[in-house]
Amino acid sequence: MTRHFLRDDDLSPAEQREVLERAARMKADRFAERPLEGPRSVAVIFDKSSTRTRVSFHVGISDLGGSPLIISTASSQLGGKETAADTARVLERQVAAIVWRTYAQAGLEEMAAGTTVPVVNALSDDFHPCQLLADLLTIREHKGALAGLTVAFVGDGRSNMAQSYLLACATAGMHVRVGAPADYAPEAAVVADAQRIAEGTGGSASVVASAAEAVADADVVVTDTWVSMGKEDEKAERVATFGGFRVDAALMAQAKPDAAFMHCLPADRGFEVTADVIDGPQSIIWDEAENRLHAQKALLAWLLERSAA
Ligand code: CP
Ligand code: NVA
Repeated sequence: MTRHFLRDDDLSPAEQREVLERAARMKADRFAERPLEGPRSVAVIFDKSSTRTRVSFHVGISDLGGSPLIISTASSQLGGKETAADTARVLERQVAAIVWRTYAQAGLEEMAAGTTVPVVNALSDDFHPCQLLADLLTIREHKGALAGLTVAFVGDGRSNMAQSYLLACATAGMHVRVGAPADYAPEAAVVADAQRIAEGTGGSASVVASAAEAVADADVVVTDTWVSMGKEDEKAERVATFGGFRVDAALMAQAKPDAAFMHCLPADRGFEVTADVIDGPQSIIWDEAENRLHAQKALLAWLLERSAA
């Protein structure tokens, strides 16, 4: 059966652990696994801009012995003349997997439903699950384990990052708190899914309307841009609303003294985070960015194995 990775909870708790352990092994021995030797190609499609995702998939697919095929939607037929389902039927005859950064989650679901090769969400409006694999790998490296840790996400609760934090941390048995203005709370269905998962893993998931409440005694403090891709027209209104949700030194001081700061990048210094925090000693953003490579290689290798079985 073909396995896809469209949202964080497409991996069970045991499967998430397996992928993260494999990622750690691959990081220690970068060229040990070559499942795409041939080379087989992997299509990586972008409807939105990217630096980290583009580079880490290109390099990762090459590390695995494969050939990355990076496609800009603007210069393809997808989205204009051709549906996701038809694109998938064309690609599956030639590539081993499809990675897609897009807007609507429904597009990814349509693509996955129409194809026999694994489809990976490289960011949608709702979720950024590849980033979360990298973030969890990074937290594991810095804190030794995941289960039982408290993570606070502060800022746009309706963003792909906040919603992925809810699902991925609940899957890992962590306690995840999203601190967001009431009008930017995560979707109720995503919170409910995270809470249901957390019941089985010993974690918890909650949403609060105060940054201070979210970060109290947290092991990890996370934020993301206030203006996600596609929301540029709402910038002024968002900047006005999110003012009380900036991660600065005073907010960090309310987390544990050894709390780590994370941000998926790109960052707007002075908006969602101050420069002294993101460039300071508690910040682990460069490890986080590097770990996209290792986490996605493990994910691709795992999905290809499972889908071939
Ligand atoms: N964090 C992240 O996905 O970065 P890019 O938009 O540069 O890919
Ligand atoms: N929430 C951000 C993440 C960028 C990697 C966005 O969607 O623009």
